[in-house]
Amino acid sequence: MTIFGTRPEAIKMAPIILEMQKQSENFTPITVLTGQHKEMLDQVMDIFNIKADYNLHVMKAKQTLSSITTTVISKLDDIIQKAQPDIILVHGDTTTTFAAAVSAFYHQIPLGHVEAGLRTWDKYSPYPEEMNRQMTDILSDVYFAPTKLSRENLLKQNLNDERIYITGNTAIDALNQTVDKNYHHSVLDNIADDHKIILLTMHRRENQGERMKRTFEAIRDEVLRRKDIEVVYPVHLSPAVQSAAHEIFDGIKRVHLIDPLDVVDFHNMAARSYFIMTDSGGVQEEAPSLGKPVLVLRDETERPEGVTAGTLKLVGTDPKVIKHAMDELFDNDSEYQRMATAKNPYGDGTASKQILKAIEDIFNDHKLDGDNNGY
Ligand code: UD1
Ligand code: UDP
Repeated sequence: MTIFGTRPEAIKMAPIILEMQKQSENFTPITVLTGQHKEMLDQVMDIFNIKADYNLHVMKAKQTLSSITTTVISKLDDIIQKAQPDIILVHGDTTTTFAAAVSAFYHQIPLGHVEAGLRTWDKYSPYPEEMNRQMTDILSDVYFAPTKLSRENLLKQNLNDERIYITGNTAIDALNQTVDKNYHHSVLDNIADDHKIILLTMHRRENQGERMKRTFEAIRDEVLRRKDIEVVYPVHLSPAVQSAAHEIFDGIKRVHLIDPLDVVDFHNMAARSYFIMTDSGGVQEEAPSLGKPVLVLRDETERPEGVTAGTLKLVGTDPKVIKHAMDELFDNDSEYQRMATAKNPYGDGTASKQILKAIEDIFNDHKLDGDNNGY
């Protein structure tokens, strides 16, 4: 049983569900959506043509962390009780992830964590994701760590090495199915060929408010100063993000505020951009595969592999630092090339196959039986 509820979880769970469908002699997928997101989740389900078996429909305008957590836990009870899956899989670090992990524990169903072991070791950054993933890892029985570093993070918390599998990230599996050289989009068609495109996304809770506004102002200043750049910003549907984006960017001709893109559009838009600015987690993983530099609008990242590889640069939300980093990518070709030619540290696009192979091994070798359940 896979349980997920937001856009990024769906994008990274979809390859696993599709692979289970292919291997139907060994797997019977049960797909449960919490519906923490609605439109942004439906987009992904439609694109990958995956039908949910259950949808809890929890999303409310301005939902709180407590309301998501309590509604998901109570609504999952009957579903898990009835379905009695052999294993529950959750992904990443959203509040859906954490709540579903608690439910799996309450029903004593083995739990597998996809994208386990990411850490900043900073309780409130990102908030609430750092603690969501730590608490999920504590409750998990099997860990699908994207990299060696994420395995090491799990070992620092004394988690069971026999049940840690380094698989790469399923984000890369999805990417292999979406990018198309002949891609067209109406926004791109209206941008002059010699203009450079910056793809922007920003949504994190700890950035909302002053940090988000000053970041947007810095980007607006650069657009007004440099006449050959254009920003494409698919704005997250969160009301806090929508209002900040429209307040700062409305009326600026070379900033294109658009609805969230479906994942095929987003990957192709990223592939067409000159560079990316984002506080997203998933986008940091995808960019190295696309050969695009990323200015990360956060002070720290749980994806240091991308910084080491050279693709990611942490710029935070200080306007001076942001403008300097943008100027460097426009004016300093060797710096641009250094960031654009890094090797992807997140695997070769076979993570979902490796995850299913690991699950088979775990059941064949009875690794979850009896006394083996300790740390
Ligand atoms: C959530 C996750 C975050 C993840 C992000 C991915 C938590 C606490 N946060 O944050 O880790 O990075 O998703 O995008 O789990 N909304 C809609 N339609 C949608 C989606 C959202 O209208 O399809 C609006 C609703 O008003 C909702 C608000 O956005 O109340 C915020 O959604 P929420 O899931 O609480 O937080 P995100 O910022 O999306
Ligand atoms: N994405 C998308 N449409 C958009 C913006 C992002 O499909 O308009 C995809 C992106 O390719 C990545 C994922 O959404 O796979 C990242 O999701 P998000 O930034 O919402 O969450 P995070 O990864 O920060 O948790």
